[in-house]
Amino acid sequence: MSPGSYIACLLTLFVVLVLVPNTNELQSSEAWSLLRIQRLLNYPSVLSNWSTNTDFCNADPNPYLTVVCYEDSITQLHISGSENSPPLPRSFSIDSFFTTLTRLPNLKVLSLTSLGLWGPLPAKISRLSSLEIVNMSSNYLYGAIIQQVFSLDNLQTLILDHNMFSGRVPDAISKLHLLAVLSLRNNTFSGPLPKSFSVLESLRVLVLSSNSLSGDLPDLSRLTNLQVLNLENNYLGPNFPRLGRKVASIMLSKNMFGGGFPANLSSYYLLEQLDVSFNRFVGPFLPSLLSLPSIRYLNIAGNRFTGMLFRNMTCNDDLMFVDLSSNLLSGKLPTCLTSDSKNKVFLYSSNCLRIKDHSQHPSSFCQTQALAAGILPHKEMRVSGGRTAMAVGAAGGIVVSVSLVGLAVFFVLRRINIKRPMKKPPRRIVEHASNGYPPKLLADARYIYQTMKLGALGIPSYRSFSLEELEAATNNFETSSLMGKGSHGQLYRGKLKDGSLLAIRCLKLKKSQNSQNFNHHIELISKLRYHHLVSALGHCFEYHPDDSSVSRLFLIFEYVTNGTLRSNISVEGHKLTWMQRISTAIGVAKGIQFLHGGIIPGLFANDLKITNILLDQNLIAKISSYNLPVLAENMKAMHLDTIDIYDFGVILLEIVSGRPIISTNELDIMKDELQENIVADGTARRSIVDPVISRQCCDESLKVVMEICLRCLSEEPTQRPSVEDVLWNLQFAAQVQESWRGDSQRSEESSLSPSQPPQSPIILN
Ligand SMILES: *[C@@H]1O[C@H](CO)[C@@H](O)[C@H](O)[C@H]1NC(C)=O
Ligand SMILES: *[C@@H]1O[C@H](CO)[C@@H](O)[C@H](O)[C@H]1NC(C)=O
Ligand SMILES: *[C@@H]1O[C@H](CO)[C@@H](O)[C@H](O)[C@H]1NC(C)=O
Ligand SMILES: *[C@@H]1O[C@H](CO)[C@@H](O)[C@H](O)[C@H]1NC(C)=O
Ligand SMILES: *[C@@H]1O[C@H](CO)[C@@H](O)[C@H](O)[C@H]1NC(C)=O
Repeated sequence: MSPGSYIACLLTLFVVLVLVPNTNELQSSEAWSLLRIQRLLNYPSVLSNWSTNTDFCNADPNPYLTVVCYEDSITQLHISGSENSPPLPRSFSIDSFFTTLTRLPNLKVLSLTSLGLWGPLPAKISRLSSLEIVNMSSNYLYGAIIQQVFSLDNLQTLILDHNMFSGRVPDAISKLHLLAVLSLRNNTFSGPLPKSFSVLESLRVLVLSSNSLSGDLPDLSRLTNLQVLNLENNYLGPNFPRLGRKVASIMLSKNMFGGGFPANLSSYYLLEQLDVSFNRFVGPFLPSLLSLPSIRYLNIAGNRFTGMLFRNMTCNDDLMFVDLSSNLLSGKLPTCLTSDSKNKVFLYSSNCLRIKDHSQHPSSFCQTQALAAGILPHKEMRVSGGRTAMAVGAAGGIVVSVSLVGLAVFFVLRRINIKRPMKKPPRRIVEHASNGYPPKLLADARYIYQTMKLGALGIPSYRSFSLEELEAATNNFETSSLMGKGSHGQLYRGKLKDGSLLAIRCLKLKKSQNSQNFNHHIELISKLRYHHLVSALGHCFEYHPDDSSVSRLFLIFEYVTNGTLRSNISVEGHKLTWMQRISTAIGVAKGIQFLHGGIIPGLFANDLKITNILLDQNLIAKISSYNLPVLAENMKAMHLDTIDIYDFGVILLEIVSGRPIISTNELDIMKDELQENIVADGTARRSIVDPVISRQCCDESLKVVMEICLRCLSEEPTQRPSVEDVLWNLQFAAQVQESWRGDSQRSEESSLSPSQPPQSPIILN
């Protein structure tokens, strides 16, 4: 650090110190509003500690009460009363209550649950225009969702569960174009859902269970981000909803859905939970659902699904809950479902299965019923207006063997049975699979509290650092702490008093950048926390002493210790195995997926390079240099997401070949070689492959990776695969490799016939 800027820093410090008494204190009008809220809520016990002396911004948060301030203004307010709170007294006025809330103009997150609030939503809610997340569950709010709610342009999450709202879900919902989570569980909404739902492209979670909604759903296939759909306990139907490909959870229990499963249900490769229980479904059960790559929970109970089950059917190892009861299924119990594992649940009573207990009907019962059910779809077709009726074969056996043909590919692929679970990143456990969100979602950055909690990442929560702290950590930004220099500034290594290491990025800002809304950027940066990113830990501003504009911005990141991906691939004696390489590639792809879709707005065109992928002590890959919001050019080009896919292809090529790719010329040559290798067979395939891994990997696994690599490197952006597609292929390659390794070990031990059908009981992870 030059002497000049050092003096500037000291001056800044001085200015900061002089200002300190004011910076952390809440504006008195906001403190006053909080005390008024306490009074209007009738002094609930959760607020019993609030008084005129309370330092609201610095009180310790707890699950029932959290106030978050930014500068001197409240940005988040969470108050959660005791369960089953009765309604507030007659004197309570929801109107005055909201008037008081509007005195907190910077409120972004508002969570007021179980507080006994009653009344209709007042129109002045529209004045809280900064709101991003609203949770007012478990109150006694009633009336319609008024139009003013739809003028809250920044709204991303709206949760009004367990209230008494009624009427239709308004058409104007489509105005909330950032809406990612909508949950209206347990109200009395009625009528059909508006067509305008189909434009809510940011929507990830849609929960409308326990209302009185009816009719068919609008086409949701354009909602490509939709992951959770929970419509349980309504009168919806009869047609199965049309959904985008990313959906992870489909809960349709207790409705009036009928007809058969859509034929392409088995191509929802991210599907983790499917519950269609207690509807009027008829027709063949799709056994392929049992082996969907992500499936964990499957419930088809209480329908009239037909078909034959076989002992040799294949199931996903992660399948924890299967309920087939009260259908018209015949045949034998699949071995893969009847393992003795304590944690797995398999229910099958009231079918016509061939087992020796009293839980089953005679097979004639299912035949008669199936015949009767065969008539149903025709009736329903007329009602719903000319949709092709499912051809429902009366004889279940025929039907199932037809659907088995479609599955042939899957079976062949799964034949290489997986004896041990592949080493996956540790999964969070969903305690009640039937009503929890999939773990993927819980990891999402957008959720309340998520950025505040230490959470599953195991790194400290995001905070602001003082310049003093950073100077101490870097020995006054000594050159020995300098790790690198880029076009935007330097990167330092730092060590805090408690011994923890940091990477500190120092960004020099132009005067012109000062007009930017830094708070907004910082808010985005604070969300950049994910297993496969070098995550943000905090920031620090340095101000110009003259006009107190921001001169430098320090961004503090976790320090990752195990070198770059390149050094772990090309340095002899240091080389990752094939399995490690695949899981590293999976990590990078997940990092890209997070940057694109895990935060709003997504970060694209991240200029990904193998030298910017770092490995931690557990060899977890982390993307270290991404398109930081402060620096991001406002790019509006087409196919932005595919730029990262191309760069990923380059990284993958280096992973396979083990040779550093330095120039575009080199890249072109290697790409051609890759293409030739893919069509060649046997050892000829391997001319491009790193000899170290060539000895360890099976042909099939290698080929899958090479093919996806080549697709990533397509010159035509639209030809490149989506990041989900990439992930699926890599995970498949890992499974194949894992089972090949298992097989080859086993065949050394015994001479087990390779055509032996898969034997299930899989060890649980
Ligand atoms: C009030 O503050 C005390 C001491 O800080 C703490 O132990 C107690 O849990 C708080 N009460 C509530 C309801 O938050
Ligand atoms: C909304 O608040 C309720 C009650 O505090 C809580 O149980 C629920 O998890 C919250 N919803 C979300 C999505 O955070
Ligand atoms: C529905 O909400 C009410 C409060 O409005 C609550 O008492 C009830 O337990 C909730 N029902 C379910 C099934 O969650
Ligand atoms: C299944 O088909 C429906 C309707 O043809 C379509 O909307 C949906 O996107 C398809 N799903 C998949 C996973 O291909
Ligand atoms: C499963 O078993 C049935 C009869 O028991 C047989 O027809 C079918 O070919 C077998 N399928 C596979 C994939 O082995």
